[in-house]
Amino acid sequence: SAATEFHNAPDTDYAEAEARDRIASAIQSVRQTLGQTYLPLIDGEYVETAENLKSLNPSRSSEVIGVVGMISVEQAESAIASAKTAFSSWKKTSGRDRVAILRNAATLTAQRRDELIAWMVLETGKPVKEADAEVSEAIDFCTYYADEMERLDTGVSYDFPGETNHYHYQPRGIVIVISPWNFSLAIPMGMTVAALVTGNCALLKPAETSSIIAAKIAEILVEAGVPRGVFQFVPGNGSLVGAHMVQHKDTHMIVFTGSQAVGCQIYANAAILQPGQKHLKRVVAEMGGKNAIVIDESADLDQAVQGVVQSAFSYSGQKCSACSRAIVLESIYDTFLARLVEATRSLNVGAAEDPSTRVGPVIDDEAQQRIKSYIEKGRTEAEVALEMPAPDGGYFVAPVIFANVAPDAKIAQEEIFGPVLAVMKAKTFQEALDLANGTPYALTGGLYSRTPSHIEQAQTEFEVGNLYINRGITGAIVSRQPFGGFKLSGVGSKAGGPDYLLQFLEPRVVTENV
Ligand code: NAD
Ligand code: ALA
Repeated sequence: SAATEFHNAPDTDYAEAEARDRIASAIQSVRQTLGQTYLPLIDGEYVETAENLKSLNPSRSSEVIGVVGMISVEQAESAIASAKTAFSSWKKTSGRDRVAILRNAATLTAQRRDELIAWMVLETGKPVKEADAEVSEAIDFCTYYADEMERLDTGVSYDFPGETNHYHYQPRGIVIVISPWNFSLAIPMGMTVAALVTGNCALLKPAETSSIIAAKIAEILVEAGVPRGVFQFVPGNGSLVGAHMVQHKDTHMIVFTGSQAVGCQIYANAAILQPGQKHLKRVVAEMGGKNAIVIDESADLDQAVQGVVQSAFSYSGQKCSACSRAIVLESIYDTFLARLVEATRSLNVGAAEDPSTRVGPVIDDEAQQRIKSYIEKGRTEAEVALEMPAPDGGYFVAPVIFANVAPDAKIAQEEIFGPVLAVMKAKTFQEALDLANGTPYALTGGLYSRTPSHIEQAQTEFEVGNLYINRGITGAIVSRQPFGGFKLSGVGSKAGGPDYLLQFLEPRVVTENV
């Protein structure tokens, strides 16, 4: 099958001096172009807007990355009207032609790897190595969904004596893509190309704080050959134009990745039948997590400490997959905690572009304030095991570890989305699993153990969409670890997996009496 033949795009090896020089000069040349204005793309034209938004460098908040034109509700209306017109011909294009566009997009993304990394470093404060992996993921989404469309395009015959039965798929129509800033390239690109390759028209509404990277996606898709009106770039205010497009009568599907609060609101709003609407909307909503790693008494502690540190603090804990709870068996609790604190203390906190940085800034001042208020709350709920100093000049929050955190503490229940880890103690392995399952989320989870019965029990009882055993819990790879959760972590099937494209398609059967 396509999945077994699939080859992931390789990451860059930054052990090589040449690769390090290349990225340093890419950052320098992108810096020469800062401050430009990026406009929405509606019906094939870049259009002026009444409202603009400044995008800032989280590592150095005085640096303006660029200015983004934010669409109005009227411009959203005209984008949807244009998509409606474009759909009538786009839906008739062959799967092969659409697949070819995705393969072009993959090639163009690969050609622009260093430049795209530089934009992610500067606009979203993502350290180089992690931004590099994200470019690979964006390429993988294009090639994987291209392969998947080839697989689905043939349909299936269920013939019977005297009749032919052809099972096949058709596109749904207009898809609104609403993306977060934390995987500013791979997630919007993946959701958008999935909509396009299945024959739908896509309107991309990126997170406000990463709109310039989204403008680069728009450039790539246009150059790859997506026709006018079929793809449109509609940056704007989420609760205003995002909500408007979700509720529009001509919208068929919303594919969202972001917070639980917004996802639930979209799910509810999309369910309301609007005057003149003749269909029900499909919603895919990938939401947050409160992910736990369980460490039992048989765990390899070197491995466990390294996996927890990496999962909790890479990209400053701003991954939906990040570890925000470490649940440790009593007998090894003190040893594990002491080693965890020492390992975390060695992480360099600094600007994303600095090659020695392990923990960069958080996305904006609002996030910084939110995380700091969780830290204040944590002080009243638990013991501070580690608090590190943060540099000035950007939106920095240094890693914080809380110990002896109670199961019902706010910092043990709510997604903080920052470099804050709650360490919890369990008396038995069963209690550890119960604690792990004791939130409304079910996204990622991990277990460090060398006890086969525990591994087996976790496989069935640990309620998460992606369970990782004896490794870190972030960095899912397209087609190897199809990604996504359930419970209040999301609705829809896994990104980068074999069921994903089906969500964008309407199955039909044609029976002919012969
Ligand atoms: P967010 O929910 O604040 O914003 C996401 C998007 O929704 C943005 O484009 C925003 O403009 C838009 N939006 C806001 N209000 C809206 C409304 N009323 N109607 C329509 N659209 C609206 O999330 P964020 O801060 O950008 O991202 C962080 C969150 O995303 C975290 O909770 C994280 O766990 C989650 N996330 C989940 C996954 C996953 O695959 N499960 C992946 C990445 C991020
Ligand atoms: N897919 C991303 C990860 O696994 C969110 O870390």
